Order: sequence, then structure tokens, then C-alpha cells
Amino acid sequence: MTATAPDAGLAEQFERTIARDQRVEPRDWMPEKFRATVIRQIAQHAHSEIIGMQPEGNWITRAPSLRRKAILLAKVQDEAGHGLYLYSACETLGADRTDLTERLITGRQKYSSIFNYPALTFADVGVIGWLVDGAAVCNQVPLCRSSYGPYARAMIRICKEESFHQRQGYELLMTMMSGTAGQRAMVQDAVDRWWWPVLMMFGPPDRESANTAQSMAWKIKRHTNDELRQRFVDMTVPQAEALGVTLPDPDLRWNPQRGAHDFGEVDWDEMKQVVAGNGPCNAERIAQRKAAHDGGAWVREAAAAHAAKKAGRERTVA
Ligand SMILES: [Fe+2]
Ligand SMILES: [Fe+2]
Repeated sequence: MTATAPDAGLAEQFERTIARDQRVEPRDWMPEKFRATVIRQIAQHAHSEIIGMQPEGNWITRAPSLRRKAILLAKVQDEAGHGLYLYSACETLGADRTDLTERLITGRQKYSSIFNYPALTFADVGVIGWLVDGAAVCNQVPLCRSSYGPYARAMIRICKEESFHQRQGYELLMTMMSGTAGQRAMVQDAVDRWWWPVLMMFGPPDRESANTAQSMAWKIKRHTNDELRQRFVDMTVPQAEALGVTLPDPDLRWNPQRGAHDFGEVDWDEMKQVVAGNGPCNAERIAQRKAAHDGGAWVREAAAAHAAKKAGRERTVA
């Protein structure tokens, strides 16, 4: 056996863990491709949480009341926390956090396409909570059973907070819908702008999704993109009715044969453009992230100097 070839027993044990629906833990042997796939998925998720703070963060200073400001501040802070758990989960696989941030800033690692759209009015804050956090819940609840242990466990807490985010968005919109005609029009306008980009959050259609089959086999992913998109549409239609808004899709209707809603085709060219970096806010999001990272350099340096000094003192005492 060469040094690089895995011990046959270890590979078998890995396969058995997956087959029995048990969790792979950081100490366990795993195929390098599994490790790389999980790092990529968790890193993209972490980046999405951190970049996702920007569209709404922009409204914290302009929230219409102290109550709304406190809610929004707490929500955006939750997203920072999600990013931190997920970067930590990545580190259990040997990834380096500075390297992950570099990859984000230089465009070598992606984040969710949805955060490249602007939040134009305060109704967008409600619609982001209702639809974007709602889609995140749909995507992420099955990940609580992901085969990589630290990711699955991080997702349990994250999902609880995401569903709370979804509820606060819906409550904000309910309040606006019982307000003036102008407020109702703002809500409808925000729904019209966000609906299709939200459907893109589930990723490309199954027929074009390169990573789905392997990720499903390894139980990193539990449902395909199209299954989750369908589940989200079915969940959202009655909520839109209760709210009194129209979803901007003339082909959206209940199909009694399928027991599910039919809906129109997403503009996949638009999605490809946004993923490729040409969405309305891509450049702005990365520039802001880079500025924040550069601006925080002195904090990281100070923390490292403090840790080194403390370690030195402990050595002297010993
Ligand atoms: Fe989040
Ligand atoms: Fe959230």
C-alpha cells in the first residue's frame, strides 16, 4: 500500500457510516473529494450569511421606528452569528478562515446569488424575511440531517433562527398591508422584484446541476434543487393569499393531478449572469466586504499579539 492510498478498512468504514445514516465526524477518515465538497458547500453557505447582512443592514439606520430598528439589528446580527458557526464548521475540516475570506473577496468562491439584488424600500426588508429567509429554511431544514456532523449540528440552531426571521418578515408585511394604499403598493412592488430571484436560490434545474448526484449519494444534500423549489412554491402560495399579494407568474396554478402547483420557467440566463458576477450589486457587495475585512486588520493583529503575549507569559510561569 502506498502512503496516499486509503486503508481499505477506513474507506469501508466511511461507506458504512453513510449507508447507516450516521454522521461523519472531523476525526474520521473521509475521501478527499468528500472533504473538498463539504468545505465548498459550507464555505459558500458561510459567505452567503455574511454577504447577506448587507442588503438589509443598509436599512438599520433608516428603520421607521425604534421597534423595527431593534428587530432588524437583531436579525442582521443573527446572520453574522450564522457565518461564524459555519466558518468554524469549515475549520474542523482543515480549512483556513483567512484563506476562505480571500477566496470570497477575490471571487474564487461564490455566495448565494440572491444577495446581489438591492433592497430598495423598507418593504424589501419584510419580503427578504418572508421569501429569502423562507427559502433558506426550505433549503436548510433537510441539512440538519446532513452526513457531516458539525454542519448538521450547526444547521439545527441556524434553522430555528431562520424560521424566526421568516416570521418577522411576514409580520412586517402584514402590518404594511393593513396600512395605506401606498404601503400596500410598496409591498406588491417588492414581491414583484424578489419572487423570481428567490426561486433562483434553489440553484440550477436538476437537469443542469453538476454537483447534485454525488452530494445526494454522500447524503450531504437530501433533496434535489427542483424538489426544494417545488416545496417552496407550494408552501408560499397560501401565505401570499393570506397576505393579499399577487405572485408575478401568470403560469402559477394548482395542478390537482400532481397535487402541486405548476409554475413558469425561471430566467436561467439571468441567474447565470448574476452568478458570473454581473448582477445589479455584485461589485458593490464584494467591495464592501473587502473594505470591512481591510478595516478589521488591526483587530486581528491586536488579537494575535495579545494571544502571543499571553502564551509567552504562560511559558515563563511554567
Ligand atoms: Fe442566516
Ligand atoms: Fe436569516
